[in-house]
Amino acid sequence: MLNRLIADMLPFMPKKLVWVFSRRYIAGETIEEGLLASKLLNQQNIEVTIDLLGEFIETLEEAVSNKDQYINIIEKFTAEKVTGSFSLKPTMFGLLIDEDACYRYIREVVSFAVQKNCFVRIDMEDSQCVDSEIKLFKKLQDEFPKNVGLVVQAYLRRTLSDLMDLKEVNTDEAPLNFRLCKGIYIEPEKVAYKRHDQIREHFLEDLEFMFKNKMYVGIATHDQYLVENAYRLIEQYQVPESMFEFQMLYGVTPELRQSIIDRGHKMRVYVPFGEQWFNYSTRRLKENPKMASHIIKALFIR
Ligand code: FDA
Repeated sequence: MLNRLIADMLPFMPKKLVWVFSRRYIAGETIEEGLLASKLLNQQNIEVTIDLLGEFIETLEEAVSNKDQYINIIEKFTAEKVTGSFSLKPTMFGLLIDEDACYRYIREVVSFAVQKNCFVRIDMEDSQCVDSEIKLFKKLQDEFPKNVGLVVQAYLRRTLSDLMDLKEVNTDEAPLNFRLCKGIYIEPEKVAYKRHDQIREHFLEDLEFMFKNKMYVGIATHDQYLVENAYRLIEQYQVPESMFEFQMLYGVTPELRQSIIDRGHKMRVYVPFGEQWFNYSTRRLKENPKMASHIIKALFIR
């Protein structure tokens, strides 16, 4: 109830106040701030995945601008020798306006990334986007098998079946590369599991499927229970370090993050930055008011 109230009020709060909590989760507004945060993480033996904030645009002009910005970001981050990859949201490239144009813009970004020997991951957005995002991934993966990955969401009822379909194109030479996360959007019950225990159970089911089928997995969670169970599955299936990594969001659970690194596992942090931080933060909160409790903590604990 309190969470919902705070989430509803946030868009009307002064930007400066919202920044007080957002700064913990967002590297800044500019490329320079994104670069600085990434370099600091690299110094701690952590790789990054860079995300320019923005989503659900309304015109193709915005898509072209986002495409140009991503290319510039790849240019700058590689020139500065940041160790990491890039994540992007297809709705930022016009997925819901013109799918073909969206594909062409993302292809341009990926093709530039390939020239720079970089990897691009396609984030998974809400359930209306899943079919198109899988289709987009398959086309890109076919052309650039080692440089493109996709996110899958454990809360979706369809995910295991999607993985079974995608398995057809998995090979030892170019294993499919997924990020497995719980899923952040508010979805209807018929589309997504709702209970915490159900989501955990399906997360582990999907993870086991990926390990068994020799797919590469970015295990993206801050949930200690899932981390512990991921260790168990890694042991059970003798998964080599070259076939998985852990991933976390910028500013979240640094102690758990360090404990994973201390065990010798690869860690990657998702580093969001950009001018759209305010819309992003308030939208996320409206979608998921549970986040408000983290914000209250962030307001008081620095
Ligand atoms: P859960 O939400 O249960 O959190 C476990 C614990 O972590 C909490 O109890 C709390 O202690 C801590 N915690 C979690 N979030 C916190 C926060 N913001 N601040 C402080 N503490 C926090 N989703 C999606 O739909 N599409 C996508 O493409 C991605 N991409 C993505 C990339 C990466 C690298 C990560 C880590 C996550 C995503 N997500 C995502 C988000 C994901 O779906 C999920 O919503 C969040 O990771 C939260 O789920 P957890 O597994 O961490 O569990």
